[in-house]
Amino acid sequence: MKKQIQYYEKLRKKFKTKREIVGWGSKKSQQMRFNVIKNYIKENNCKNLLDIGCGRGDLVNYLNKNKIKIKYIGLDINHNFIQIAKKRNPKNFFKVGNFLHTKIKSFDLIFISGIFNLKMKNHEKFMETFIKKAFKQTKKILIFNCLSTNAKRKKKLYYYINPFEISKRYNKNFKKLIIDHSYADHDVSFILFK
Ligand SMILES: C[S@@+](CC[C@H](N)C(=O)[O-])C[C@H]1O[C@@H](n2cnc3c(N)ncnc32)[C@H](O)[C@@H]1O
Repeated sequence: MKKQIQYYEKLRKKFKTKREIVGWGSKKSQQMRFNVIKNYIKENNCKNLLDIGCGRGDLVNYLNKNKIKIKYIGLDINHNFIQIAKKRNPKNFFKVGNFLHTKIKSFDLIFISGIFNLKMKNHEKFMETFIKKAFKQTKKILIFNCLSTNAKRKKKLYYYINPFEISKRYNKNFKKLIIDHSYADHDVSFILFK
């Protein structure tokens, strides 16, 4: 996890509190990932949401702008990011912690956006452990995204996943799986239902 902290701290030192610290190329690129969750909240009557790797807590603004009412909790391994998130969204609850080592209660919806982009040692094992724990902690839906092998341009720093392999590789206990590759050639979201 050191790599995740070091990488984002470099960006934070460069960009201070700006959106760029969480590594997205643009607001559009961040929001196309947020858009995925929009429809599933109402449809599935989700009352609470855990945003793992919440960064600056930009999802809160997105939910407010779209008039989506849900109890929000943000978790991030980087305490500086949590400080920024708290300042920007004083009415919401944010917590510092590495999800893999944090005891949390269950949530109707768990969202993970961007954590799997940075290539980690034993990346597949890392993702598998992460997703299994997140799926266990969700009551209704787990949504996560990854960079896709379908991307036209690839960078060595990042990890790209073949979307067709995901259902084989991860939890086979989901009731329903939706793979949403509709919003970009380089990114794909997985929506797993319990
Ligand atoms: C690409 S950024 C995305 C931030 C946010 N989801 C967004 O879309 O604006 C990934 C975030 O995940 C956090 N992170 C990485 N590993 C984590 C872990 N094990 N537990 C909690 N947060 C983690 C990083 O600190 C970083 O803020």
